[in-house]
Amino acid sequence: MNVKEILDKAYNTHKLSKDEIKLLLTLEGEERQLLFDLADRTRQKYVGDDVFLRGLIEFSSYCKNDCFYCGLRRSNTEAQRYRMQEEEIVEVARRAYEMGYRTVVLQSGEDPYYTRERMCSIIRKIKEEVDVAITLSIGERPYEDYKAFRQVGADRYLMRFETSNKELYQKLHPGMSFENRIECLKWIKSLGYELGTGFLIGLPGQTVDDLANDILLVCELDADMVGIGPFIPHPQTPLKDAHEGSVDITLKCIAILRLLLPDSNIPATTALGTLDPLGRQKGLKCGANIVMPNVNDLDYKLKYELYPGKICINEDATKCRGCIESIIISLGRRVGQGYGQSRHYRAKKASGD
Ligand code: 5AD
Ligand code: FES
Repeated sequence: MNVKEILDKAYNTHKLSKDEIKLLLTLEGEERQLLFDLADRTRQKYVGDDVFLRGLIEFSSYCKNDCFYCGLRRSNTEAQRYRMQEEEIVEVARRAYEMGYRTVVLQSGEDPYYTRERMCSIIRKIKEEVDVAITLSIGERPYEDYKAFRQVGADRYLMRFETSNKELYQKLHPGMSFENRIECLKWIKSLGYELGTGFLIGLPGQTVDDLANDILLVCELDADMVGIGPFIPHPQTPLKDAHEGSVDITLKCIAILRLLLPDSNIPATTALGTLDPLGRQKGLKCGANIVMPNVNDLDYKLKYELYPGKICINEDATKCRGCIESIIISLGRRVGQGYGQSRHYRAKKASGD
């Protein structure tokens, strides 16, 4: 099949073989633009012009893990650590609501301080006091934790598998297991959360073959949301001298994922915006339909340094909100109203799956 036929197939059937994905990942020039345009059309057809905003609350910068790429890794003794208490988290959620957000994402390093009881209490309290959907992004937990969080009202869960290459995964995540991560993702799905997962682009040693497998794994996990972003080397990690991930490949992955999962939610990520000042705009033009601005105060933002150079780090939450809105409008799109549930999730639920 030639490129045109593969693109037609993707647009009409939302299925591609691994070799076809690999070919699309290498497109250049006009053919590359065709891929982006087709992904944009698919986005328009399945999820429309609404761009939904999620208020990101990074509530703890402590992490018990030691992932090679991440600035929050426990061996980074220079990292500044903080923990927000329940009242403060609820207060930020309330502020996010007042700014117009209808989803908050509670994200942290893997921090055992937030026991099942503490997390349940935070989720319950937000649900009682603020009319928002809650997305958790707090890493690997026992099944019983996921179950309890869901029971007290958590709606969604985000956890990237980072790479589908098991060997590479084991290298970059000392003391962790790829199998356990995938098992957690399956538990989360089975508990009725909207499931978000994804991967990093440009990890040292990662190949085009790996990326095609990453895309296929997202499809296999039947993700309701897919977050992907370029790897950005952090100076206080073992990968400090590695090359950063490619913006171009990230955009191609977004486009291919949109074709394969037409009604899932796909964010234009902060990492993409960090490597390219127009990265988020470009993402929104080739398949993405979500942006996740940080709603924390400046001093916390500075301390949650997954990677250096993060955009918006000196902007307060109100300013970011306005900035994002004008980006969305300038692209001829609208800010989505309401919770912005994944259409993929809704369709599955309606069909009793
Ligand atoms: N560059 C880009 N993304 C990173 N993440 C962690 N460290 C980095 C980095 N150096 C991503 C991981 C994680 C998400 C919260 O942030 O994919 O899942
Ligand atoms: Fe934060 Fe633009 S989104 S300043």
